[in-house]
Parts: sequence; C-alpha cells; structure tokens
Amino acid sequence: MEEKKQKIILTGDRPTGRLHIGHYVGSLRRRVELQESGEFDKIFIMIADAQALTDNADNPEKVRQNIIEVALDYLSAGLDPAKSHILIQSQVAELTELTFYYMNLVTVQRLQRNPTVKQEIQMRGFNDDAAADNKAGTPVGFFCYPISQAADITAFKATTVPVGEDQEPMIEQTREIVRKFNATYGPALVEPEILLPDNAACLRLPGTDGKAKMSKSLGNCIYLSDSAEEVKAKVRGMYTDPGHLQVSDPGKVEGNPVFTYLDAFCRPEHFERFGECFHGRKSSFDFHSLEEVKAQYRAGGLGDVMIKNFLTEVLNDTLEPIRVRRKALEKDLPYVYDVLRKGTEAAREAAAATLADVKRAMRINYFDAGVLDELIKEQSERFK
Ligand code: TRP
Repeated sequence: MEEKKQKIILTGDRPTGRLHIGHYVGSLRRRVELQESGEFDKIFIMIADAQALTDNADNPEKVRQNIIEVALDYLSAGLDPAKSHILIQSQVAELTELTFYYMNLVTVQRLQRNPTVKQEIQMRGFNDDAAADNKAGTPVGFFCYPISQAADITAFKATTVPVGEDQEPMIEQTREIVRKFNATYGPALVEPEILLPDNAACLRLPGTDGKAKMSKSLGNCIYLSDSAEEVKAKVRGMYTDPGHLQVSDPGKVEGNPVFTYLDAFCRPEHFERFGECFHGRKSSFDFHSLEEVKAQYRAGGLGDVMIKNFLTEVLNDTLEPIRVRRKALEKDLPYVYDVLRKGTEAAREAAAATLADVKRAMRINYFDAGVLDELIKEQSERFK
C-alpha cells in the first residue's frame, strides 16, 4: 500500500516530427521543472511510436526516423536520464495487453463523443467516405487510441500527467476506465490527475501565422532545433495586428502572436539584456516589463520591427543552450539509444508489475504461483 503514496509522472509525445516551441512551453519546460523539483518518486517520458502508427500505418519510416529527433529534443531541453526514464512505447508489450482488456470497459459511443478524437478524425478527413478512396474511414486502431493512452498512463500507476489542454479528454477517459476497472475487478489502478500549463499563453501557443495551433502541416512552427538565423527569419515573417499599419497607429495585443510568444518566453531580466532593441533612430523606449511594452503598443508609436527584434533575442536566449546540447548529442547517437534502451527496460519492469496486478484482479492469472492449485481444488468439487 506504500505504492499508493508515490507520486509518479507519465507523459509523452507522438514521434511524427521534431518538437517545436509550442511543445516546449506547453509541456517540455514544465517536465524539466517537475524533474528538478525532486517531488516525484518516478518519472516516465514516453515516445509514443505505437500511437503515432495509428494514423501513419502506411509510413512507419517517418515514425522510426522521428523517434531519435524527439529523443534529441528531450535530452537537449534538459530531461535527465538519471531522473527521468525515457522510453519507446512499442517496446513495452504490456501496454498492448492492457489496452485489450480496457477495450471492454469503453463503449464505441463513448469514444465517438471524445472531443479530441472527434476533432482529429475531422482534421484527417477520415470521415469523408468518398467511396472510391479506400483510405476513407477511421482506422480502428486510431479510434481506440484513447484506450491505449489509458494503458500508457495506468501501466506506470501515474498520479500526474503534465500535458497540453488538447489532452484533457484523454485524461478524463483514462479516469473513467480506472473507475470502471476498480469498481468491476477491485482497486488495482490509480486515477491520474492532469497537470495543465499555469500560464494561459502556454496552454496553446499559436502558429507564427496567428493560427490557433502550431502544426507542421501548416508550416507555422518554430522548432527547438531551428538555428538562430531561422528563428530570426521566422519571427520577422510573423503575423501581428493587421490593423497596425503605421508605427503611430494603436496596436492590438490580444490575438497578436508576437505578444503571446513574449507572454510565454519573456523574463524580467530580458529587458536589461535586450533593452537596446527598443532604442531606434526614430523612437526610443526604456521598458522594464512586458506590461509597459504592451501599454505602448496599445497607445501607438511602437513598431512591430522593434518588438520582433526583441522577441528574436528572447527566443534565442532560451533556445541557444538547447541547440548547443543538441549539436553535441547528434554526434553521440549510441549514447542516446543507450538512454532509450535503459529507460524502456525500467518502463517494462513497471508495466509488467501493473499487468500482473490487473490480471490478478481480473482473475486471469491462471498460472501464477498457487493460483492453479486453488482453481483445480475448487473445480474438482464441481466434478465430484
Ligand atoms: N496523445 C499524446 C499526443 O498527442 C501523446 C501520448 C501518448 C501521451 N501517450 C500518452 C501523452 C500518455 C500523455 C500520456 O501528444
């Protein structure tokens, strides 16, 4: 019962591309803080390749190549293998077995109501049943991925799942499965809590084009691995307030992604270090806080170029140490795969223990020590 008191983190990402600054402020930065807080007994970070395959069945190579990209992003962002186990989902077979039993505790109708699944099916066009296209329709594996995600979380008896807002329905679905399981078979599983970013700007970082979400397919991402020059060029091209035509015009801060990024990344010391960005030939400002910058932008007289120069400095200040570590790790892939192998081994051990608990609770552990003797004794009575 001592196990129940442990604080355990499980979270992860689908390896379908390099991670971007939306992932960073939405989850990755927080994970590193939680890791360093020393408050958690165990931390598992999952590279969810099996989940990525649920809508990339025809492109396993993409998933395969992106496992290393995500691992490099993790380690360079500060996840420390001495404190956090980084694992490859597909190599923990116990997760698949748990998923199969949980499937019986969830209805098709409930899955159909999961808002994230609904939205993702829409986004991928799985619902368009253009009869000629045999790709139309939703893969069953994709439809069921919330159940597999419940297996991911419960396999590690996770108490805390730090994720972005879009994952809320997954955690809710997991909690329902846990309650159903425990009520049906006995208390083998732990109900997890979601941990959302505490800063509104970090909940959902918009794309550089101002669209609601940063996404590779929209081409509006700033990647953790982008060079300083790439960051500068991407920021220069960012959408701002389309009504802010002249520098003297009053500008809008709300819905302006340049300000959302500053909300997510800017720290007080940045004004001291990068204040010269606001000193130009035509106008010059001495700002000490983001609130002062916003007030000036709203009043008019503050140009987008100045703010973008400042944002570039702020972003590169955060990204530079990550880039430096990534460059070094890229030269040492055997080390990175060693981290993944060890993390996966630790994960397998934890998941196997939970699977044993689950099978014991369901009484499908026929060949466990002592179980068969009891069963034979009981059933012999029946055949007397
Ligand atoms: N669904 C998550 C995403 O889209 C990835 C993921 C898989 C995950 N399993 C998880 C997140 C378990 C948290 C917990 O990024």
